[in-house]
Amino acid sequence: MSADPQTLSPELDAWLAAQAHKDLLRFITCGSVDDGKSTLIGRLLYESQVLFEDQLAALEHDSRRLGTQGGALDFALLVDGLAAEREQGITIDVAYRFFATEHRKFIVADTPGHEQYTRNMVTGASTAELAVILVDARKGVLTQTRRHSYLVSLLGIRRVVLAVNKMDLVDYQETVFRRIEQDYRDFSAQIGLTDIVAIPLSALRGDNVISPSAHMSWYTGPTLMAHLDRVPPTRPSSTVAFRMPVQWVNRPNQEFRGYAGLVVGGSVRVGDPLVVLPAGVRSRVARILLGDREAQQATTGQSVTLVLEDHIDVSRGDLLAAADAPAAVSELFEATVVWMGEEPMLPGRPYLLKCGTRTVAATIAPLKHKINVNTLEKLAARQLELNEIGLVHLSTEAPLAFDPYEENRDTGGFILIDRISNGTVGAGLLHGALRRAQDVHWQALDINQAARSAQKHQKACVLWFTGLSGAGKSTIANLVEKRLYALGRHTYLLDGDNVRHGLCRDLGFTDVDRVENIRRVAEVARLMTDAGLIVLVSFISPFRAERRLARSLLGPGEFCEIFIDTPIEEAERRDPKGLYRRARAGEIRNFTGIDSPYEPPENPEIHIDTRDTRAEQAAEQIIRYLRRIGVIDLDGVFIP
Ligand code: ADX
Repeated sequence: MSADPQTLSPELDAWLAAQAHKDLLRFITCGSVDDGKSTLIGRLLYESQVLFEDQLAALEHDSRRLGTQGGALDFALLVDGLAAEREQGITIDVAYRFFATEHRKFIVADTPGHEQYTRNMVTGASTAELAVILVDARKGVLTQTRRHSYLVSLLGIRRVVLAVNKMDLVDYQETVFRRIEQDYRDFSAQIGLTDIVAIPLSALRGDNVISPSAHMSWYTGPTLMAHLDRVPPTRPSSTVAFRMPVQWVNRPNQEFRGYAGLVVGGSVRVGDPLVVLPAGVRSRVARILLGDREAQQATTGQSVTLVLEDHIDVSRGDLLAAADAPAAVSELFEATVVWMGEEPMLPGRPYLLKCGTRTVAATIAPLKHKINVNTLEKLAARQLELNEIGLVHLSTEAPLAFDPYEENRDTGGFILIDRISNGTVGAGLLHGALRRAQDVHWQALDINQAARSAQKHQKACVLWFTGLSGAGKSTIANLVEKRLYALGRHTYLLDGDNVRHGLCRDLGFTDVDRVENIRRVAEVARLMTDAGLIVLVSFISPFRAERRLARSLLGPGEFCEIFIDTPIEEAERRDPKGLYRRARAGEIRNFTGIDSPYEPPENPEIHIDTRDTRAEQAAEQIIRYLRRIGVIDLDGVFIP
């Protein structure tokens, strides 16, 4: 599609190079469907005359074919992304546009107005310094306007332009404009947005976009372009402390060891004392390289290679920070999460968290509340659905160096990645560390797992039985435990039905509850292996993510996943507790295999198909496996 500036990269590169000396303002435009956002951006691009020849040709062609302006140039077409979307008359995804004035160059993130596209707005807003929020003069401040403003404020944008568009359709009346302006100021004050410039305009007619309007003499403020051109840049980097997440360690030979990355805060000079986080080791800057050029100083936005005075251990994912203003380090945080996954966010489930160049496993729990972005109400919630925003506590598996997002978007912002699909499922902002993390320390004990196991003459491990209800897990686990007991082994069997009478009495069968059920049992199993026991766990444990969590809590060779594979038809035919019949009759909700999913293991250590293996044979097979991996050896046989 030739009208998309992003596809014109050689020309664009050349243009950007020509603009290199000008300062840059990044802004985002937000509006509801039909507010005239595309028309406004199109006009900014057109009138600042940086359109490329072929974009103009495409625009004229499309205006004739699709335009809503009777063959005259339809600026909306210039902006609306792909051809297919254009034919539907809607915009989706984020598009970045470029234009310039004499003083300044601009990158505008254009995000769609549809309610469900929060993720696009988050993407666009995370790099913007200013937001242009459009409202239709006929409609005033809408739910969408509030939603967008909330996100803008959340993502740290402090400057807002309230563009009251379509003034031509309300006869350019000042009263209409003033009422909308007041409504908006009333709302935005509640979310901490105070730097607001309201401009009455008509994107279609060109009033107050570039040139002052002849129809609104009552308005004496700047045009939109004049304001964008003059508004002072925010967040001068000199006031922020030096930060550089290490992207990679450059070690071409024995003599040279440099740490490459993008400076995301402050600036650095040769000789400056730095600290490597999270380790906390200190050194000084010996050399700064910008490309292959030696420099005395580097600042925010520059990609650099730093050489330190001391040979210390620094690797990818570490954060280099000013020693006199280091970032904080924690494993427990308060954060805001914007959920972007199709599957809901389940507290207790481990995700991967990527902050700067560091990736660590992270779990959200608890979800304190979600936020109704229209009313700003805090709502109790058990999970977050697509596009929902929540305040959470979040724990990481390893220490993470960070700054509050309010201080530095790069070291305080993060994304969440699903461990199984590898897709981005959330974005978030770290507000601060929770004190609890500093107050609770790991207590070193003299008697450890090895000692406790040795005393019992056994190797501690977890045998994790998974499968549908009625598959035969508990029957087989019970037989295995009897065999182990007879061999003099020290065991414990954690059974789903039994544990749900005590430790997990408060949990039901929703996805959220099952995640928590398995998390607790996995932790208990870990404690019991630490006590030196052979632990048998017999739970449906329907989700791969939580079985994987259980595995990750244990050492290599300590976790044995046993898939008791009974097809649903067979389990239902057996129906030992009559539960399938009741589930089919609608008396039990969220029943595994019926209206709640079961994700079969992909690589279990042991796979037992109960259609052709009797329970005794299955138990025998498991005991043989334990002998093979050395959990039971013949020396230790206890003959009763
Ligand atoms: S899990 O999914 O969270 O691992 P768990 O193994 O603890 O489940 O409990 C499953 C047992 O609870 C089943 O064996 C069955 O007896 C009983 N049960 C009651 N309601 C349900 C349900 N909706 N889905 C599955 N099992 C249920």
